[in-house]
Amino acid sequence: MPRYSINASRLNQTLEELGHLGDSPGGMDRVAYSPEDIAGRDYTIKLMQQAGLDTRIDTAGNIIGRRAGSEDQRPAIALGSHTDTVPKGGKYDGALGVMAAIEVVLTLKDQGHQTRHPLEVISFTNEEGTRFHRWLVGSRSMSGLLEQDDLDAKDDNGHGLGPCLADIGGDISRIGEAVRSPGELAAYFELHIEQGPYLYQSGTPIGVVTGITGRAVFEVEIEGKANHAGTTPMSTRRDALVSAAKLVLAVQKMAAEQEICRVSTVGSIKAIPNAVNVIPGSASIGLEFRDTDMQALAAAEHELRRITDQTAVDDGVDVAVHRHRFTSSVPITPEMQALVAEASVNCGFDWEPLPSGAGHDAQAIAAIAPVAMVFVPSVDGISHSQEEYSTPEDCANGAQVLLELLLLADDRF
Ligand code: GLV
Ligand code: MN
Ligand code: MN
Repeated sequence: MPRYSINASRLNQTLEELGHLGDSPGGMDRVAYSPEDIAGRDYTIKLMQQAGLDTRIDTAGNIIGRRAGSEDQRPAIALGSHTDTVPKGGKYDGALGVMAAIEVVLTLKDQGHQTRHPLEVISFTNEEGTRFHRWLVGSRSMSGLLEQDDLDAKDDNGHGLGPCLADIGGDISRIGEAVRSPGELAAYFELHIEQGPYLYQSGTPIGVVTGITGRAVFEVEIEGKANHAGTTPMSTRRDALVSAAKLVLAVQKMAAEQEICRVSTVGSIKAIPNAVNVIPGSASIGLEFRDTDMQALAAAEHELRRITDQTAVDDGVDVAVHRHRFTSSVPITPEMQALVAEASVNCGFDWEPLPSGAGHDAQAIAAIAPVAMVFVPSVDGISHSQEEYSTPEDCANGAQVLLELLLLADDRF
């Protein structure tokens, strides 16, 4: 039996309320730094304050709510996730982890239970990385993994990050002050929807995350020759979009048929000038590979460069491959996995181990603290979509495990 029961209806009500902010035709739009994101952040701060947390915004724009421990000199145990979304995303990705963390604190408050360790609820800013094409910005700022390139990044309209950070209470000129040293946090725990099909298919309520996938992101630029679509013979064309299309299929095959890495995706494509009567002179595709095995990602990059070189020769186009990101996979230690499993058993839930195919703030925080992640099922394995759904019961189960996990860590760490 768990020590205390979380309030399932209160948790699901906050998820619903947060889910009204940015709810738009086609999905949830709380892209980081947008007015909708700021409304979600304000709502989160209000809830944190109602839960009795002392709130502050660090220079990176992360929202941090703190509750004193009875042995306050101890390092804090942190719970959290993010409330920004991808464009046309869902109501649970990130939001569940933050709302559940607040519910855990409310339950402790209701029970008059003070933990030995100070407790922090952290809502990391810009996990998704939509606007500036740089992800985990808040959590990497905190763990010291942010790079100059992240700070210099421009959005698609050429605007920089500085004013956006100012809009949410951060300060790019002092972003280094958001860094926390190893030892400052005793542990970080993140509850998240699985975003994949495995728990839903097996009917297991709780996933113990064994590791977080590595990810390699590339942009491929193709230069052909723009010309008139009506007058240029087919045999003399150097159509950059046709070459891009061949690469889209080749990249898909790399995981689907060649099994070089676990998944491979071309998620964006641009044709220039993108007019129906012009042979596209330039095209670019954005693509990524994911695997927990970093050698598989290296092999995928090798194959990508081979097929792009071949396409250049075959099609008479120029092809440039830019590697944007190479995020290492992060294993979760056996001890931390065992703690999540124990918390699940204490709550009376079956669990199963599984790796995370999505990225999470926990992977950045792992650089400065021991981390663990709890997954709950995603109906039909759908996420980053309006159809993303986890049942109220599954969300509550996850929050219950998060509370038990915190109490176990508070006893033992
Ligand atoms: C983050 O949501 C990701 O793309 O894994
Ligand atoms: Mn996401
Ligand atoms: Mn997420």
